[in-house]
Amino acid sequence: MLCKYLVTLSVLVSSAVSAECGWGTMDGNPTRLVGHRGEKAFMPEHTLGSYHMAAFESADYIEPDVVVSKDGVLVISHNEWLSDTTNIASIPKFADRKRSFSFKGKYININRTDFWIFDFTYAELQEIKVVQEKFFPYRPQYFNNDFSILSVDNYLDLIANVSTTMNRTFGIIPELKSPELFNYLNPTPNGRWFEDSLLSILNKRGFGANQPPASDPLMDEGDLLNQVMNIKPANYKAPNYKRAAIQSFDPETCQYLATQTKIPIVFLNNVTPMLFTPKGLDLISSFSKIFSMDKEILLTGPEVFFTLDKVAINQTEIAEMGGFLMPEQLMAEAHKRGIAMVPFTLNDSRQKLNYFCSQGRDPYTKFCPTNRKEEMYYYFNLGVDYMFVENIFEAQMLRLAFDYKVRYGIDA
Ligand SMILES: *[C@@H]1O[C@H](CO)[C@@H](O)[C@H](O)[C@H]1NC(C)=O
Ligand SMILES: *[C@@H]1O[C@H](CO)[C@@H](O)[C@H](O)[C@H]1NC(C)=O
Ligand SMILES: *[C@@H]1O[C@H](CO)[C@@H](O)[C@H](O)[C@H]1NC(C)=O
Ligand SMILES: *[C@@H]1O[C@H](CO)[C@@H](O)[C@H](O)[C@H]1NC(C)=O
Ligand SMILES: *[C@@H]1O[C@H](CO)[C@@H](O)[C@H](O)[C@H]1NC(C)=O
Repeated sequence: MLCKYLVTLSVLVSSAVSAECGWGTMDGNPTRLVGHRGEKAFMPEHTLGSYHMAAFESADYIEPDVVVSKDGVLVISHNEWLSDTTNIASIPKFADRKRSFSFKGKYININRTDFWIFDFTYAELQEIKVVQEKFFPYRPQYFNNDFSILSVDNYLDLIANVSTTMNRTFGIIPELKSPELFNYLNPTPNGRWFEDSLLSILNKRGFGANQPPASDPLMDEGDLLNQVMNIKPANYKAPNYKRAAIQSFDPETCQYLATQTKIPIVFLNNVTPMLFTPKGLDLISSFSKIFSMDKEILLTGPEVFFTLDKVAINQTEIAEMGGFLMPEQLMAEAHKRGIAMVPFTLNDSRQKLNYFCSQGRDPYTKFCPTNRKEEMYYYFNLGVDYMFVENIFEAQMLRLAFDYKVRYGIDA
């Protein structure tokens, strides 16, 4: 699809870029929505409830975070510790398991006193129940203690089950958390026990063999309302592959995975300035075709973001790598290299926006979103290929409204 981009001069929904026709994503499809930890705006994250809700909200992908139990079972939790998201502190028989633990790797640094998931066997983990994080008061606590910690196999069964009952495709997008730690705890000759274990599970279920060659349409035509309501067009053919991607913040894990599987690799990074340059993107494209970063980098540009985030910038190195790319160039240069771009995380509208500019700490960035619609439209206009979202239904409705606007000229 040929589209031209115009800079709108309207002061309100911004000095942002707007598409003259269609979506500015790499393949012209609507931005894909990834349910962050399932639907954690309403359900305790990473539970059957959270994943089912993400499916009912028609998320394109449903995200689990993968860690490992004491006896080597791949299980799902965002943290390696249990106190924030489970009822562990109220289980007397486990009280003596609390301990301080520290681990410093190249890419991770853990140091806290807590209950650690890798101190519990899978059977013991089944005695623990998941609760909603307390930090976000509007999130319902009704479902606390209803759900258990899942294994990766439980998650994959659930996705397969809802795909069958709803007769539609949901993408899986597991993130390997702290590979350095879990490979250290589970030593093997190649030092890649964690990656190999996940791949073996996915390969057994046919994910490895059957990946799309390039473009992967959500449906054979892009009618989003039908997609949300699961009404398939007459010419619809279910994909003959399994929609999947594997994510990690660890670049060496991503590099290793890229040599072992056809499943697309999502490289996550919000700490390495030199990646946000032309040569940085060259480097990424050698092992990852999906690059995901703090959404703010795509708003302020890398220089302002890393400066305000107090990440040291080596200007000599940045110059050698071709200089920082501002958001629109970053998108264009990434797409030129076949890299899809993915901001994390677009929050529920009941949460305050916490951009540096919304906190009054960023005088440089001209456009500062003031609500979720402005925020989502900014990233849609930029042509991001996927986004991690919470309150998926809100995001769906805004995506639908944006779709009407760019494809049919109807302002919602
Ligand atoms: C871990 O944190 C504690 C308390 O903040 C500190 O005293 C200790 O030195 C830290 N340990 C390591 C290994 O960094
Ligand atoms: C998936 O469906 C099978 C067969 O009905 C059932 O035994 C299993 O418990 C289901 N698993 C999940 C996680 O939904
Ligand atoms: C699932 O959807 C496909 C595509 O629309 C359709 O051909 C098929 O009959 C559906 N299967 C069921 C069990 O409804
Ligand atoms: C900055 O980068 C240059 C070029 O890559 C390198 O030679 C130099 O050692 C770096 N400086 C620091 C402080 O890391
Ligand atoms: C948005 O969501 C992310 C991930 O859940 C969280 O870390 C961040 O604090 C949230 N932002 C706000 C303003 O609550």
